[in-house]
Amino acid sequence: MSPTRRQFLLQVSATGVTALAARKLPASTLATQMTMPMGAAAPKVPMLHSLELTPFVDELPLPQKAVASSGKSGQHIRITMREIHVKVHRDVPPTRMWSYGDTALAPLIEARSNQPLRVEWINHLPTKHFLPVDFSLHGCGHDVPEVRACVHMHGGKNPSSEDGYPEDWYVPGKSRVQNYPFQQDATALWYHDHAMGLNRLNVYAGLVGMCLVRDAVEETLQLPTGKYELPLTLYDRNFTRDGQLLYLDSGDPEHPWVPEFYGDAILINGKIRPFVHVEPRVYRLRLLNAANSRFFALSFSEGVTGHQIGSDQGLLAAPVPMHQLNLAPAERADILVDFSQSAGKTVHLKNAALEVLQFRVAAKAEAGTSFALPKTLRPMERTPVTSATVTRQITLNEYVDKIGNSMLMLLNRKHWHEPVTETPKLNSTEIWEFLNLTEDTHPMHLHLVRFQVLDRQLFDVFAYRNDKGMHPIREPLQPEPNEMGWKDVVQCPPGMITRIIVRFEGYPGKYLYHCHVLEHEANDMMRPFEVIA
Ligand code: C2O
Repeated sequence: MSPTRRQFLLQVSATGVTALAARKLPASTLATQMTMPMGAAAPKVPMLHSLELTPFVDELPLPQKAVASSGKSGQHIRITMREIHVKVHRDVPPTRMWSYGDTALAPLIEARSNQPLRVEWINHLPTKHFLPVDFSLHGCGHDVPEVRACVHMHGGKNPSSEDGYPEDWYVPGKSRVQNYPFQQDATALWYHDHAMGLNRLNVYAGLVGMCLVRDAVEETLQLPTGKYELPLTLYDRNFTRDGQLLYLDSGDPEHPWVPEFYGDAILINGKIRPFVHVEPRVYRLRLLNAANSRFFALSFSEGVTGHQIGSDQGLLAAPVPMHQLNLAPAERADILVDFSQSAGKTVHLKNAALEVLQFRVAAKAEAGTSFALPKTLRPMERTPVTSATVTRQITLNEYVDKIGNSMLMLLNRKHWHEPVTETPKLNSTEIWEFLNLTEDTHPMHLHLVRFQVLDRQLFDVFAYRNDKGMHPIREPLQPEPNEMGWKDVVQCPPGMITRIIVRFEGYPGKYLYHCHVLEHEANDMMRPFEVIA
């Protein structure tokens, strides 16, 4: 069930970059290859080949904490979006980016379960975009300002008005205050841009940050904290030789949108292949895949194994040994890794075969390093299937032109702007079945809620397409052990029905669900849903 992505393999020859053939490749092989999305034009400017850069020369940056001030109405944070010029690698000239902070790594918001927080998001971006805006996309035409922003707290259980609806954008010079109740369990959330038709470019420019929610259950476990807990934001980018972000477009100035983006350089916390000093002891890594399209296939080298203790919406019931972690766009993983047997050595975090982060393990640890892996983490009740009152089938569709380029992707063959069709009742439980008729794995995300993955089952796509009904093939497959916790993103592999069970708790109002491949979401794999009181 390893996700596959369709793409062109590129050959770098004397004449430049040529597309060889469209093939199916496991996502795990992507990191080490030059890749380019279907339909993307060969770059006109010379590209930087990140594998030619010396790895592990930059120290891993760690996020500054966003400082809250207390006012009349509680804790308050101000975060400003701005243009910056920063070094992604020792040997690369400064790169223009957009960020929520003054480095590529946005401030870390630390919140506490049930303690509301107000964040004022200030749009201080320039009024011209520096990436190829597609004015033909819905909601992104010449009738709206070119630069718009809107912040969504991904995974947050928020009232609809505070959620960062894609159409609630605002322009440079304006700001928004959003109130987050944080009535949810400890986990890693992340905030990112969600402006209609633009967010793949705004996120690519750098508008991404992390938010850690803490609670008492987590504290009783006495997990590594302080300098022993490392938030790690992973994404891929392409750069020009002079260090500027390069987002390949289709070559059609009227419709520059491309169906996927894969960059050749892997960045962690804003640096290409950095290193970090650690002690020989247990660390807690908070991993976030903030890439536009790329799935990561992560493992540790040198015989070190990690344990996954949490996923998108918090702690798992018990630790799961981590061999190879498949992390889709927007998924998070909470990992414990033990360097105590590696004193004086180096250990690497790898994406497929490529070492992306180097841990330099000191000879000795500071005092007080003993830590035993807990046997259990948090009680986790499976939602009974019988509690669901509605089952919805949602098809994932892709439309392809004659030369094989995807033109459009839809949910239930419907566009974003068509009337709402999913109207769950507040406090009801539903089963959603994603029927994937495409050849890609789609990471499907629902706002507001957390859910559980029920199972996945192959079905006869050909029969389904030809109106011969739904014919499942073979028995359903159980979710992977690390998918047995609360999730807000689920990987939907091609040719399969992926079933989730979800209780619509919290607030009534308008929300959305979409594929978290940001290129898919923009055109037009995103639909509203409305929770009815
Ligand atoms: Cu990560 Cu609709 O969002």
